[in-house]
Amino acid sequence: MSILVTGGAGYIGSHACVELLNAGYEVVVVDNLYNSKEESLSRVQKITGKSLKFYECDIRDAEGLEKVFTENKIECVIHFAGLKAVGESCKIPLEYYDNNIGGTVILCQVMAKMGVKKLVFSSSATVYGDSPIPYREDMHVGHCTNPYGRTKYMIEEILRDLYASDNEWSIALLRYFNPIGAHESGLIGEDPNGIPNNLLPYISQVAIGKLACLSVFGDDYNTPDGTGVRDYIHVTDLAIGHVKAVKYLESRTGIDAINLGAGRGYSVLELVKAFEKACGHEIAYKIAPRRPGDLDVSYADPQKAKDLLGFETQLDVDKMCEDTWRWQSNNPNGYDA
Ligand code: NAD
Ligand code: UFG
Repeated sequence: MSILVTGGAGYIGSHACVELLNAGYEVVVVDNLYNSKEESLSRVQKITGKSLKFYECDIRDAEGLEKVFTENKIECVIHFAGLKAVGESCKIPLEYYDNNIGGTVILCQVMAKMGVKKLVFSSSATVYGDSPIPYREDMHVGHCTNPYGRTKYMIEEILRDLYASDNEWSIALLRYFNPIGAHESGLIGEDPNGIPNNLLPYISQVAIGKLACLSVFGDDYNTPDGTGVRDYIHVTDLAIGHVKAVKYLESRTGIDAINLGAGRGYSVLELVKAFEKACGHEIAYKIAPRRPGDLDVSYADPQKAKDLLGFETQLDVDKMCEDTWRWQSNNPNGYDA
C-alpha cells in the first residue's frame, strides 16, 4: 500500500516524502513541476536510501491521475499541490481558483471513483484572518484577505461538504503556520523562483550575498520590538506531523482541522538575530513600510495536534536557521547546478 503525495517535489512535499519513506511507507509522487525540480526527488532518495515512484502529471488531468491510482495501491493521499504566492494570487486570481480549487475537486472525484477516501490537505493559518491569538481550530474562519487564502478556506468547506455527503471519508485539514528550515543533510530545502516573498528565504539570500539588504516590513506593530511576530515551524517537524496525520486517518473517519505550529511567536528582528548566529555574520537590514495585508501577530494553539496526533514540535528557531544556512550555502542556486 502506498501514500500518494501530490506536489511531492515541492518544498514541504519533498520533506514529507523523506519522513514517509523513513517511516516505512511506499511513496508515489504526482507533480507537474510548475514550481519545483525533479532533482528534489533524487535527493530525497539519496537521503533515505529508498526509492519512490514519480509521475509528472497535473492534478487537473483526471485521466492521468486515474492511471496513477490504477498502477499503484494507494491507501491515502497527502495533497500539497497548489499555487501559494499571496501577491501573485491578487494578480491572477482565476489561475489560483482553477489550480487550487479545480485541482482539488478533480483529485477528490478520482479518489472517490477509485475508492480511496483518506486525505490530508495542506491548509494554512491564513484562514484565521485577524482572529484573536492564539488561533484555535474551533474559531470562526474565512476572513481571508487575498485569493490564495480564500482558496484554502473554500477547499476546507468543499471537503466538509464531501464528508457530510459520504461519512466514509477520513480527512485532515492541516493548518500550517510558517514553515521554514531545511532537511539537516543540506540536500533539500526551499528553492524559490526569483526574488523571495517570504522572510527566511530572503534573509538567507542576503546572508549568501545574492541580495543586498532585507526590508523589515514595519517596526510599529503592537509587538515587543514593533516587528511582525509569526509562529515558525521547522519543515521537518511539519513533515513528521503529516506522517502522524496519515496514521491518525487509518483509525477513524471524519474531518478535522488541525493546527501545525509551535505555539509561540518570534519577531522579524529575533529571526534576523538567530540567522546571524547561524551564518556567523551580520545581516544587513533596513526598516521599510508595512506590507499591505500583514498581521501584527500570528501563532497557534497547538493543543489539538497534541491530543489527536500526538504531535509536538521538537526543533527550535536556532536549528531552523542552522539548517536553512546549510542548505543555502551548499546550494547557492538551489537545485540548479
Ligand atoms: P511548493 O510550491 O514548493 O510545492 C507545491 C508543489 O505543487 C510544487 O512542486 C508544484 O510544482 C506542484 N503543483 C502546483 N500545482 C500543481 C498541479 N496543478 N498539479 C500537480 N502539481 C502541482 O509549495 P510548498 O511551500 O511546498 O507548499 C505546499 C502546500 O502547502 C501548498 O498547498 C501551500 O499552499 C501549502 N502551504 C504552504 C505554506 C508555506 O509557507 N510554504 C504555508 C501554508 C500552506
Ligand atoms: N517580512 C519582512 N520582510 C520580508 C518578508 C517578510 O519583514 O522581506 C515579515 C512580514 O512582514 C511578516 C514576517 O516577516 O511579519 C513573515 O512574513 P512571510 O512572508 O515569511 O510569511 P507570512 O506570515 O506573511 O505568510 C506565510 C505564508 C502564507 C501563509 C501565511 C499563514 O507565506 O502563504 O504564512 O500561514 F498564508
